[in-house]
Amino acid sequence: KNIVVLISGRGSNMISIAQACLSQCWPARIAAVISNRPQAAGLAAARALGLPVEVEDSAGRTDREAYDADLARRIDAHSPDLVLLAGYMRILTPAFVDRFAGRLLNIHPSLLPSFPGLDTHRRALEAGVKVHGATVHLVTAELDSGPILAQAAVPVMPGDDEDALSARVLEAEHAIYPMAVRWMIDERVEVRGRTVRLRDPGP
Ligand code: GRF
Repeated sequence: KNIVVLISGRGSNMISIAQACLSQCWPARIAAVISNRPQAAGLAAARALGLPVEVEDSAGRTDREAYDADLARRIDAHSPDLVLLAGYMRILTPAFVDRFAGRLLNIHPSLLPSFPGLDTHRRALEAGVKVHGATVHLVTAELDSGPILAQAAVPVMPGDDEDALSARVLEAEHAIYPMAVRWMIDERVEVRGRTVRLRDPGP
């Protein structure tokens, strides 16, 4: 199976998936890591892992339809079975989401449906929640609202600041994103409306 990963920054989730793919010999390969930012640190990290990288620079691209169409063409060139958003910091157009529906995943740094959108760790601290976490979900047109594949919870500790909390959540992200991607590769995921059922693994 072919996986395309979209990043905008550091790329630590992309790395965790690439490493799981290689070390666990998944029946899949990362066909491309594509960044919308030429300076994304994740690009160098991907190259160091021997992964093919591409840039579709979004600077100054205010026509989101046109940009997403270019991005989709680039992705389609790899005949992807899965398209993974991994710290990809642009809102996608409905046409893009439709095109990859059912094979488009995102990792979000909160326990959805709590704290959709940006600044999740700051907002979690402000809300005084005692449990926070991360969510892997299928992407639908509505932001951070698609069917939930996997979640991991972490405690909010007294004295946590945004950095401490985000580091704890990131560790959880690195555990659940590769796990959920593997379920997709093994075709174990059955979506019914908003709910997801996991089929037993094959023999
Ligand atoms: C992660 O916290 C992810 O949940 C969010 O953006 C961050 C990206 O981190 N969407 P990285 O680029 O994968 O290191």
